[in-house]
Amino acid sequence: MIRGPARRMKTPEVSIMPLRNSPDRYGAVSLTLHWLAAVLIVAAWLLGTFDDVLPKGPARDAGLFAHITFGLAMLVLLAIRVPWRLADLPPGPLADPFDESVAPLDWETALAYTVAESPEVREAAAKAR
Ligand code: HEM
Repeated sequence: MIRGPARRMKTPEVSIMPLRNSPDRYGAVSLTLHWLAAVLIVAAWLLGTFDDVLPKGPARDAGLFAHITFGLAMLVLLAIRVPWRLADLPPGPLADPFDESVAPLDWETALAYTVAESPEVREAAAKAR
């Protein structure tokens, strides 16, 4: 049995992102596919556009090889993304902030609060006191 301070230590709370999308947020698989595609497109574009920065010869050849590899990886990713998009529906739209059945405040009140709580208004109120 563990005695002393170690026994009193709480287990840290770990929140693990679900793999699948939920009604209010994207899951780990969709997010990974998304950012992987973003990185591949940017990398392929950079290597395609600035290929002449690399010296002619093996370096430029390697750049073109990487460019083509990233582009083809993008196609493979697309073949995974499309079925995944159909199998795992994305979250619904965000709540409309002006929808009074959802929003706790009407927008005029929200605006009044925002202005009243702004540093400028607080400072002016403090000076007036
Ligand atoms: C996300 C995918 C891709 C993007 C964003 C992309 C982008 C580009 C860009 C911006 C250029 C420069 C064009 C120019 O300045 O004239 C280029 C050139 C080129 N790309 Fe891609 N590309 C992609 C995929 C591919 C794939 C899959 C292949 C081959 C199967 C390929 C082969 C080439 C070749 C041969 C060049 C000419 C390179 C050179 O001038 O030395 N690209 N690409």
